[in-house]
Amino acid sequence: MSFKETIACIGAGYVGGPTMSVIAYKCPQYKVIVVDINEERIRRWNSDLLPVYEPGLDEIVKEVRGKNLFFSTDIEAAIKEANIIFVSVNTPTKEYGEGKGMAPDLRYLESSARQILKYANGDKIVVEKSTVPVRAAEEIKRVLSVSEKYHFEVLSNPEFLAEGSAINDLLFPDRVLIGSEETPQGIKAREKLVEIYANWVPREKIITSNIWSSELSKLASNAFLAQRISSINALSALCEKVGADIEEVSKNIGLDNRIGNKFLKASVGFGGSCFKKDILNLVYICKTYGLNEVADYWLKVVEINEYQKNRFVTNMIREMLSTLADKKIAVFGFAFKANTNDTRESAAITVVKKLLEEKAIVTIVDPKALENAKKDLEGVKGIVNYTEDPYEAVKDADAIAVLTEWDVFKQIDYEKIYSLMRKPSFVFDGRNILDHKLLYSIGFNVYPIGKPPLTHFKKI
Ligand code: NAD
Ligand code: UGA
Repeated sequence: MSFKETIACIGAGYVGGPTMSVIAYKCPQYKVIVVDINEERIRRWNSDLLPVYEPGLDEIVKEVRGKNLFFSTDIEAAIKEANIIFVSVNTPTKEYGEGKGMAPDLRYLESSARQILKYANGDKIVVEKSTVPVRAAEEIKRVLSVSEKYHFEVLSNPEFLAEGSAINDLLFPDRVLIGSEETPQGIKAREKLVEIYANWVPREKIITSNIWSSELSKLASNAFLAQRISSINALSALCEKVGADIEEVSKNIGLDNRIGNKFLKASVGFGGSCFKKDILNLVYICKTYGLNEVADYWLKVVEINEYQKNRFVTNMIREMLSTLADKKIAVFGFAFKANTNDTRESAAITVVKKLLEEKAIVTIVDPKALENAKKDLEGVKGIVNYTEDPYEAVKDADAIAVLTEWDVFKQIDYEKIYSLMRKPSFVFDGRNILDHKLLYSIGFNVYPIGKPPLTHFKKI
């Protein structure tokens, strides 16, 4: 079959894989090749057990893989064949040198640009899909403009999908943002990308803009979303002191149309690979330009999140007779949110490490994320067990700590759970997903987030 054009994507991760699968699915006239240096990842994209768990992803991949969607480690061939090359590599926080712990590490982005430069056999459109600092496109251009033979146009097309709902977000995006240079070549390249998205996204939702606005809008969107969570989590601490209920407060605030009701769910703290790193990226940029007050403002969002995770564990210690040593704790959920196997920056990592420091014996229950949990806790001192069966996890346990809002945790028989646990039994619901009154009536001492606890202990 002959295709209209070939699109390549460098990076077959949580963004590259699902995004390109949807493009291939919605645009059968294009051939899509997703490449990665990680052979194991590519092997899994070509197997029945995909490296990324997302509802709806398996079906789409099965439908188009081998027809117009291909996963490969042959980066050279993909670059040669494609006219449009997405770059969807990781941009983690730098762990060394200048800007350590704050600036983004752009070496994968640069190595992608160098690969494109090395293997290109004609003009190419390079699309920044990774989340990058403002003016990253300029850096990519610096590498690519070494070429005397070919012209490279760099576009910014940030991705707004959330994990767990990635396929839905990609099929029905709120907006698709495409930034380009405002030159005739830049505008021509951007129109090519608009044409691809227009295969399934309504035209009015495809927003074109100045390239720097596009890059900054991505960082700003994540900062705003995370800021809402830190705001509600900060209030949850106050609720616990004054007897207010954070769910009622969230509802009351969210009823104001100007505020809206989304992203106001108090929790043990936000996780995920991006919120923290993207805010730190923003903070670093502000500092670079001497905007220290602006930097401090955004940094507080991350600091409140650390405070919320620590507060959760401190509360457990205080309520369980000030010692967790040798106590058994069943941790319900390790993924950073429900419906994903991703555990990057999950609040569960911080919480479990702290529980182990306190010499608690931890059993982790998660329907999808145990494989990643084991990797995250490799080499950490202490006793950790893993199971998909909550009933097994709670045998002789003193407490349950709910850290991910998986539906399965709402559906289990808490009478049976209670009968299997040591008494007094505690539930620390870091997601406020359980029926707290029911648990209390069964006999549990219940500690939600941002609500008064329900305990059977008598004050003397
Ligand atoms: P990821 O770590 O899952 O995937 C990145 C992939 O790039 C890895 O498989 C890695 O091996 C590959 N890679 C790195 N350098 C390479 C090179 N030179 N050649 C070929 N492959 C290379 O990361 P991710 O979660 O997919 O995120 C990618 C980017 O998208 C990041 O900038 C992130 O901030 C952004 N983003 C992520 C999400 C999300 O939900 N995960 C959402 C929106 C945006
Ligand atoms: C987030 C953004 O929602 C996406 O738009 C963005 O594309 C993506 O980051 C990215 O750039 O990587 P994601 O991290 O996948 O997506 O998931 P979210 O749904 O945003 O959840 C992030 C964290 O916040 C999770 O730990 C979640 O449990 C927590 N959260 C979310 C709350 O604690 N309360 C809420 O009300 C909402």
